[in-house]
Parts: sequence; structure tokens; C-alpha cells
Amino acid sequence: MTASPDRASIRMCHSFDELNACVELQRDVWGFSDLDLVPLRLFVVAEKIGGQVIGAFEGKEMVGFALSIPGSRSGHPYLHSHMLAVRESQRNAGLGRSIKLVQRADALARGFELIEWTFDPLEIKNAHLNLERLGAIARRYTINQYGISSSPLQGGLPTDRLVAEWWLRSRRVEKLLESGAHPEFKVEHTLAVPAEIYRWKASETDRGRAREVQAKNREEFLQAFADGLAALGYERDAAGNGKFLLGRWDEAYSYAGDGSEQ
Ligand SMILES: CC(C)(COP(=O)(O)OP(=O)(O)OC[C@H]1O[C@@H](n2cnc3c(N)ncnc32)[C@H](O)[C@@H]1OP(=O)(O)O)[C@@H](O)C(=O)NCCC(=O)NCCS
Repeated sequence: MTASPDRASIRMCHSFDELNACVELQRDVWGFSDLDLVPLRLFVVAEKIGGQVIGAFEGKEMVGFALSIPGSRSGHPYLHSHMLAVRESQRNAGLGRSIKLVQRADALARGFELIEWTFDPLEIKNAHLNLERLGAIARRYTINQYGISSSPLQGGLPTDRLVAEWWLRSRRVEKLLESGAHPEFKVEHTLAVPAEIYRWKASETDRGRAREVQAKNREEFLQAFADGLAALGYERDAAGNGKFLLGRWDEAYSYAGDGSEQ
């Protein structure tokens, strides 16, 4: 059976059963050890203090969730989306995007204009979803944000992350949601991620190649961001290779300024 976001109902989660289902789905999706799992207590707290726990259900079964917590920078409240997960059998049918759009609607209804999250710049699929399908931008880079994690998805590499900024009312996001494409921009720099990266990360013998790509791209991102560029687009080719497209964002949205940007 083909998965479809239309078959899933997406709603805010409040009960212990729903929040526990998030913890279990998290265990399946990331394969974390117990020590790395975000525990039930944090889902409970997030839900109570103005964050978001959003679940996607097919019948009674949870097939996806998102977790976010409130943050504040330079006096501005925003949401930090810590996790987005879709059960493997339901992926690539638009459900991840649909959960994010519910996240956006709830945030706007409560007066937030920014949702941020971090993502692994080596994950080709996530970069495409974030930049091309949601309209987030990235102009900050964190080296080894969480230390080395137990998730096999990481292959023991440093947990470098790009910060996705999703300016919910920006022209970029509104145009993308209306027309399916973000506004055009002049590409000033590109950064490649080879399709083999997943295989290299998973293989003990080839992991060094994944590390090399990570190290090279890290330096280029840091330099480009210092020069005022932002990741505004992403291309995939037929062989599955990814490419970040960097340019200058022409909208003035920013909460930077008090030194707490990371
Ligand atoms: C990230 C995740 C939540 C996305 O959920 P999803 O339901 O598959 O997402 P969607 O179907 O809405 O969008 C996925 C997009 O990536 C594309 N895609 C799929 N495989 C891809 C690949 N190997 N390379 C590039 N793009 C890919 C899909 O075609 C789709 O784009 P499209 O809408 O333009 O066709 C899901 O893959 C997941 O749970 N991954 C593991 C956990 C994770 O990485 N979470 C995010 C970081 S916290």
C-alpha cells in the first residue's frame, strides 16, 4: 500500500499514550541507545511550556511526530524544533512536510514568526526538504553540536549541524507555499554532497571518505557564512548527488545580535 499524507491525521499530542508513542517511534527511527533517547519527561515538559508535540496517526498507530521547545534570542520568542520523524514505511509521501506545515500553522496562531532546527549537512534528503520544500534558509554552522552520538545514522562522525531558520511569514516561504518554488537568487557558491555518503558513513572501511567530505564542506560553509552568504537552494541529480546553492538572502529577518546565535 502506498503511504499518503492524506491518510494520516495530524494533531497536537497531550496524553501519556501519545507522548510515549513518540518516544517509541524515536527509538525505531534513530536507533539510539537509551542514554541518547529524548525521554518522556521532556515531551511532557515541551507540551506544557509552549512547545509543540505533534503526532501523525493512521488509525491508532503513530506514524510520525515533531517535537519543539520554546526559545528566546535577543528578546524574541521562537520555537526550536528538536525532532521530526516519519516511520520508514510511510516516508517520501509528503508526510514529513505535512507535519511541518501543521507546526507552522500552530506557531503562527500563537504569534511566533520563526521556527529553527538543526540538520546534518550530509543528509541529502533533509537538505532538499528543508531548503526546497519548506523554504528554510541556513547561514549558521555548528561543529560537533551533540558530540559523537550512538545513532547508526551518524556513522560515528562528529555531529556537525546547519541551523535551519524557517521565517514563517517571509516572502520566500509564502511564495514557496503558494507556487511550489522559492524566489530565484544569484548562486555565488555551491557545495557538493556525493550520493555515496550514506554508504561511506555506514562502512567502517570507507568512513574516512565521509569524514573528508564533512571536513571540506565544514570549512567552505564557515567561510561562505562569514562572507555573508546563506544556503538558499538545493539541487539533486538523477544519481542522487546533492548540491547546496549559496547566495545572498534579500530579506531582513534576523534575531541575531546578542551573541547567542548558536
Ligand atoms: C526526514 C523525514 C522526517 C522526512 O519525512 P518524509 O515523510 O519522508 O518527508 P516528505 O515525504 O515530506 O519529503 C521528503 C522529500 O525528500 C525527497 N527524497 C527522498 N529520498 C531522497 C534522497 N535520497 N535524496 C534527496 N531527496 C530525497 C522526497 O522525494 C521528498 O521530496 P519531494 O516532496 O520533492 O518529492 C524522514 O525521512 C525521517 O524520519 N528521517 C529520519 C529522521 C530524521 O532525519 N529526521 C530529521 C532530522 S531531526
